[in-house]
Formats: sequence, structure tokens, C-alpha cells
Amino acid sequence: MSTQNKKYPRLTAIIFTGIFLLFFAVYCTSPEKAGAQFNVQPMLDYCVEKTQATLNSQLMEDSLPRNVLQGQTRWNDVGIHDWCSGFWPGILWYAYEASGDAAMLQNAQKFTEPLRGVLEVPVDNHDLGFMLYCSFGNGYRLTKDPAYHDFLLKAADSLATLFNPKVGTILSWPAMREKMGWPHNTIIDNMVNLELLFWAAKNGGNPTLYDIAVRHAETSMETLVRSDYSIYHVAVFDTIDGHFIKGVTHQGYSDNSMWARGQGWGMYGYTMCYRETGNTRFLTMAEKLADRFLERLPEDGIPYWDFDDPAIPNSPKDASAAAVAASAMLELSTYMQAAELKAKYYNAAVSLLAKLSSPEYLSGDANQAFLLRSTGHKPAGSEIDASIIYADYYYLEALLRLKNMEVH
Ligand code: GLY
Repeated sequence: MSTQNKKYPRLTAIIFTGIFLLFFAVYCTSPEKAGAQFNVQPMLDYCVEKTQATLNSQLMEDSLPRNVLQGQTRWNDVGIHDWCSGFWPGILWYAYEASGDAAMLQNAQKFTEPLRGVLEVPVDNHDLGFMLYCSFGNGYRLTKDPAYHDFLLKAADSLATLFNPKVGTILSWPAMREKMGWPHNTIIDNMVNLELLFWAAKNGGNPTLYDIAVRHAETSMETLVRSDYSIYHVAVFDTIDGHFIKGVTHQGYSDNSMWARGQGWGMYGYTMCYRETGNTRFLTMAEKLADRFLERLPEDGIPYWDFDDPAIPNSPKDASAAAVAASAMLELSTYMQAAELKAKYYNAAVSLLAKLSSPEYLSGDANQAFLLRSTGHKPAGSEIDASIIYADYYYLEALLRLKNMEVH
């Protein structure tokens, strides 16, 4: 220690304390450091191990896991035409990305291939994005296989056939025109599927796919999103003059309630739309939707299936909504200029992931899935408090996003 420091011990202590406090403040406001409270690698390892265990359980190529219901331990499978068919191949692609394992790559390719059959029947819903972008889209991102590229362009053209220029949106559920008397209907989930159109427009596809995606996002913003930034599940439109007739629900508690996964799809979709367009209206919308979601989260941090179910707290949770929101908010945080907003969405996402990774929500040895406690379609009595494949998909996606953000 120098003579000067001996002479002024109090001053030295003050300077050192000041420097320490400054570093501590920077540490606390740095989004990356907040991630240090959650160790992402063991959770990625857990997902890869569980994916491998499902593969080892004599899964056939036409077996596409969808859910594990209460009291069950093994996946119930669906065929390629189910809206959830793309999530299992998508998980295999992410597990390959996380592990670099060549055998996992082969499995991802093997389970992606049968989904070519999706385009062999007439398009009858907006879910082509979930089905084919999660599977072939991730496959192309990781392998640059030209056959995946060409197939994705066809998929995007097929999805675009459901676009109604009079209304300005894609017809999400053609079957509901007759069944529910909804002449043209668009659901908030559809926002996520616009990614396939944006991808095609910038990868050699028809440039009008970009315009369709933008118009759909704008029309959805004006109709599906309410003034308090909660979201209707379904918007119903007139097919003659295209006007918005009403907002209703299909999977939520009531027409005016806030269905948890819908809020997740919305914030995910508008964050992605900002990435693809640079339009700040989409960014602001994503922030408002995320803020509404965060404001209304219950004390334990994971949403009930619908924020307005009067049975709360005796109501099922929806881990899938939390996983979708976590993935969305991680990306959203990267577009924030202000450090405190960056930290806000990053920390909110990490806290959702930490909660999902706790024994309350992690399936561990209980069943083949990564996560427990999702709710698919409560009003129909289906997939309540269950493990559902899209919860696992978005959980793994969010873990990978977090890992990449920590590395870069
Ligand atoms: N896309 C249907 C759902 O979120 O359940």
C-alpha cells in the first residue's frame, strides 16, 4: 500500500466501495448477467437426453408425438396431417443443434421426410407454418439442403392460397366457415405462421408473400388486439366487403377473456414481424402484448390457461404459454435500445425458464416429455394439465436462444 493510502485510509475505503458499487450496479443491470442465475446447459442436456430416450423407445417414422395425458407415461402419437406434426421433427433439429450429434441429425432428417405428404392434400388450415417451418424450416437453417428449400417455397405458396385480399388476412380455419358460421376467420396463432411467408419471399419465392404477411399482421393488429392489449382468439370477417364482424374465442374461457397461449402467439408473432420488416409498429405491438402478459402473471410466475378463468386459483396452468412467451421475450429483448427494457424482457424470459425448469413443471422421470402442466383445449375438455409437444418445442427453442445470447 502506498504512503498516500496509509495517510488517507478513509478516502481509500470510500473509493474502493464506490468502485465496487459501480461494478455491482452494472452487473445487476446487465441482461447477460441475470442469466447467470439460471444455468442453461444442464437443461439443454436434459432435453437432448429425453429426446434420445423417446427415440430409443421404438418410435416409428410415422409416429409423431403429440401429448402425454394425466396418468400416462408415454407419448400419444399423431399422423402428418395433425397440426402438431412439425414439432417432433423440430425438436429433433434443435436437439441436433444443441448436441452436434450426427445420429440426432439422421433422426431429424428421418422424421422430417414423411411430412412431404402434408402438401399432397388440399390446404385446409393456416397450420402449414407450424407443421412445415418447424420441421423443414429448421432443417434448411441447419443443413442448407436444397430439397428442403424447394419444398418450403411450395409450402409458402400453398399457405398463401388462403389469403383473402378483401379482408387482408389468411383464412385460418376453412372448416369453421360452415361449422361455426364464421365466413372468414383469422386466429392469433396464425401470426406465427407468417414466418414461412417472410422466409420464402427472401429466399427466391414470390415477393408478394412478403406483402401478404405484412397485410395479415396489420389487419390482425387492428382487429384481434383489444384496446387493453389483450387478444381475441378469433376474428370473424365478412367475405363480401371484408369488414371485421366480431372477436370470439375457440380455446379460451370466453369471447372477451385473455387466453394465455393466444397472448404468447401474439407477442411471438409481432416480435418476428419486426425482425422481418423493421416496422416499429410491430415492435411496439410486441412490447405491449408482452407487458400485458407480464402484468397479469400470477404470483408463482406461470400463467393459468386463461387469465380470466373465474375458477382461478383452482384452474389448470399452461406451461406451453410460458414457453412460447419466454422464447418471444428473449428475442424481443434484443431489439430494445434502452438497457432497462433489454433487461426487463430478458429477465422475465429467464424467470419463466427457471420456473419451467423447477420440479413443479419439469417432467423428469414422470413421463417422456420435457415439461408437465400444459393445457391444449380446455373448453373441449382436451389435453388439460398434460404434457404437450409444442410446450417442449418452444422450451427447447428458448433454451437455445438463451445459450446463444450468453455466448455472443
Ligand atoms: N394453434 C392451436 C393452439 O395453440 O392450441
